[in-house]
Amino acid sequence: MRIYMSLLVAGYCLLLASAALAIQLPFGLTPTTDSDNLVSSPLSGQYPSGFTLRQVFHHGTDEFPKLHRRLDVPAEFHIASAGDEESTAFELSSVDRQATRMAKRDCDSVESYLEKVRTREIVGVQDFDWVHEIIPTPNITDRDTLVTLAKMTADAYVGLPDNANWLDVGVPYNRSSDFGWDAAGIRGHVFADEKNKTVVIAIKGTSAALFDSDGETAPSDKINDNLLFSCCCSRVSYMWKTVCDCYDSTYTCKQDCVEDALYEEDKYYRAVLDIYRNTTSIYPDATIWLTGHSLGGAMASLLGRTYAAPTVTFEAPPEKLAAKRLHLPFPPIPEEETMIWHIGNTADPIYMGVCNGPSSICWMGGYAMETQCHSALECVYDTVNDKNWRVSSTNHRIRNVVEMIASYNSTPTCVANTECQDCFDWSYI
Ligand SMILES: *[C@@H]1O[C@H](CO)[C@@H](O)[C@H](O)[C@H]1NC(C)=O
Ligand SMILES: *[C@@H]1O[C@H](CO)[C@@H](O)[C@H](O)[C@H]1NC(C)=O
Ligand SMILES: *[C@@H]1O[C@H](CO)[C@@H](O)[C@H](O)[C@H]1NC(C)=O
Ligand SMILES: *[C@@H]1O[C@H](CO)[C@@H](O)[C@H](O)[C@H]1NC(C)=O
Repeated sequence: MRIYMSLLVAGYCLLLASAALAIQLPFGLTPTTDSDNLVSSPLSGQYPSGFTLRQVFHHGTDEFPKLHRRLDVPAEFHIASAGDEESTAFELSSVDRQATRMAKRDCDSVESYLEKVRTREIVGVQDFDWVHEIIPTPNITDRDTLVTLAKMTADAYVGLPDNANWLDVGVPYNRSSDFGWDAAGIRGHVFADEKNKTVVIAIKGTSAALFDSDGETAPSDKINDNLLFSCCCSRVSYMWKTVCDCYDSTYTCKQDCVEDALYEEDKYYRAVLDIYRNTTSIYPDATIWLTGHSLGGAMASLLGRTYAAPTVTFEAPPEKLAAKRLHLPFPPIPEEETMIWHIGNTADPIYMGVCNGPSSICWMGGYAMETQCHSALECVYDTVNDKNWRVSSTNHRIRNVVEMIASYNSTPTCVANTECQDCFDWSYI
């Protein structure tokens, strides 16, 4: 595939490919094809090493959307966090690739774009100024890099020392009205390399007993899952409690209404924007990579698309519908050149988008996982055929996924499924 070709050839082909594409682009986007515009980011050609856990962000959702906390991880914990006796830090292989990104990617510009879309000051997708840059990205053909990223997301579930000294980074929060604040929110675990040049944010995802081992944040995760991955507010049957009030009539849903619901202050998308803002303020010159498992993977992907940051997800439910509903930037390049890789396996019904219908475990658990399409690239391990695995939510769990990836000698080919269509039986008005 083109992405894996050597850098110069790939860069040249990408430029040709985007030139060829220009005629078919919607919204009158005209990609820059002038090779003078191909700039090498000052960070390309640098090979990061020695990633350690530096910060953990906890952002409240639900009743506590104003809660933003940061924990600076003490140095002695860096070692423990690698979870591996012989190594004291995580190693990731990096490869330079050409990225097409919005010229203005600072948090204020991006959030002001999102705000204009949300308030319908602009409709559809803005005609951004795009730039082509060579940037370091995770080497996803490297098995050990995938294993390590998966471990970093697994690590995102690990508890921290009880005496951890959390700082308020938003408005000060009144600790004495404690709500057991493990219960409602999303976490970003921030890993940086030795030089603070490459930073990986691992977003913590669903930890419902159904999907993974510990049940801490289950209730709010369920609301977010049902909002993000259902056709219309989890209105899958008249008996279901909906997570937003957008259902109009049989298979008819109010589009503006579902879009608004995704942007609400107490929902996860808003929370990950804050995590990104806070992380880039600590590491203003770093390349940011994102990763996450399950719901965390989907949130990493939405955030990665928002800021055009290279993203590797594990067993993320199909999130393309959510990306479209949020009007996130889709650069004028083929989807397969977007640097978001969704790693998964055929025996995981949640990743495969088949955990739906009254007999499914998702339905029984109250999860309306109706979407089927991932944005960008799918990298699928065929565990059903290769290993005779039965389709089961057990194969969704991050710990099993770490072992699964390690058990293969190579990594899967990544492809964009551009034919995929979500919720085709619904009308949106
Ligand atoms: C990426 O990983 C593959 C597989 O380990 C390796 O052969 C290749 O040299 C790596 N690329 C870079 C630029 O390190
Ligand atoms: C913090 O919360 C406690 C209990 O709800 C309340 O008595 C106290 O006045 C609050 N303090 C501040 C500074 O808001
Ligand atoms: C890297 O960032 C940390 C904050 O996590 C800071 O304490 C440290 O001084 C930085 N190191 C370098 C080499 O910039
Ligand atoms: C962290 O994020 C919160 C919420 O967006 C914001 O209020 C605060 O200013 C940010 N802090 C920094 C240092 O970026």
